[in-house]
Amino acid sequence: MSTDAKPRGIQVISTMAMPKDTNGNGDIFGGWLVSQMDLAGAIFAKQFAKSRVATVAINSLAFQRPVSVGDVVSCYAELEKLGRTSMTIHIEVWIITDLSQEQYKVTEGSFVFVALDEHRRPKPINA
Ligand SMILES: CC(C)(COP(=O)(O)OP(=O)(O)OC[C@H]1O[C@@H](n2cnc3c(N)ncnc32)[C@H](O)[C@@H]1OP(=O)(O)O)[C@@H](O)C(=O)NCCC(=O)NCCS
Repeated sequence: MSTDAKPRGIQVISTMAMPKDTNGNGDIFGGWLVSQMDLAGAIFAKQFAKSRVATVAINSLAFQRPVSVGDVVSCYAELEKLGRTSMTIHIEVWIITDLSQEQYKVTEGSFVFVALDEHRRPKPINA
């Protein structure tokens, strides 16, 4: 059952929240979610720029609902803005809950990636 609008962008990764990813309250640790978002954004940016990339900034980040162990966690990415060497990517995290199989958005953010050459210098993107 879906309780929200549809995810924005394309699904890049999907995984399951595990006990090792919890915080002191027993919910999933925000830092783990951010690393999943960073990974999804990097995969999306790498494929878009056809080069190696690095995260240069996180412009916004909002944790809207908690995530629990056993939830299926998926990251969706969409190009928000293309610069000369940078890509601003909107990333949403959606879950399918373990118990009720509900699907909804839990976190979203805007990440900036830079395309890099072999010397780790910013490189123009030929989209
Ligand atoms: C990525 C890096 C090479 C960019 O170097 P830089 O000297 O800032 O390069 P530039 O000033 O030419 O900026 C490159 C692009 O990034 C953008 N940018 C730089 N800092 C930014 C910031 N804080 N927020 C948003 N965009 C930023 C610039 O606007 C530019 O975009 P454009 O070419 O589309 O106009 C350098 O900052 C770096 O190595 N950072 C560490 C990356 C890292 O280790 N990330 C974590 C692990 S992946």
